[in-house]
Amino acid sequence: MIIAVDGPTASGKGTIARALAARFGLPHLDTGLLYRAVGRQVQLDGGNPDDPGAALAACDFPSSLLDEEILRSEEVGGFASRVSVHPAVRRALYERQRAFATQTGGAVLDGRDIGTVIAPEAEVKLFVTASVPERARRRWLEMTGRGIDVALAEIERDIAARDARDMGRKDAPLIAAPDAVLLDNTHLGRDEAIAAAIAAVRARADLG
Ligand code: C5P
Repeated sequence: MIIAVDGPTASGKGTIARALAARFGLPHLDTGLLYRAVGRQVQLDGGNPDDPGAALAACDFPSSLLDEEILRSEEVGGFASRVSVHPAVRRALYERQRAFATQTGGAVLDGRDIGTVIAPEAEVKLFVTASVPERARRRWLEMTGRGIDVALAEIERDIAARDARDMGRKDAPLIAAPDAVLLDNTHLGRDEAIAAAIAAVRARADLG
């Protein structure tokens, strides 16, 4: 069974995808991490993330980069969003994601275009979302909890900008697949959102 979990930044899709993987005993891939690694590599190379050539060259990043904590920073997230608009970058990362999705036994992948491009045949597709203010609030709590001094308004601006870029790009824009189950968790707690996702998988995959 392939489970595709798509949605905008800070929507809680990663938490949900990890919980589904544990619940159904499937391997999980956070595809955003691949784009973050490309963004980080461009940064390390001193290149411009808006330049398709520099972004494509960065797709050759060493796998050890995937383990680095800095990939989770807002700054690298911004670079990731910028490199991800280039079709050549998306093509370069396609095979790796496709191979993971189609491995024997199935998998859970989370990202922006899993249900639409990477695994359109996925048995279960979830589109996880929440309002911009609520996503900003959660990201702010998480960051200040880690001791990072940042203004809520700044995070809200970043999230809105990232949404606009992810939804507005020509190649594989962030959009719910027509057959995706919409999960708006603006008013749901973590456990409620996970329970709703498990119920959606059971209903879709006919697991009873
Ligand atoms: O999900 P995460 O915030 O880690 O993703 C970072 C960026 O990578 C996103 O803003 C998006 O532009 C890009 N991305 C993408 N396609 C994916 C996963 C992430 O374009 N499947």
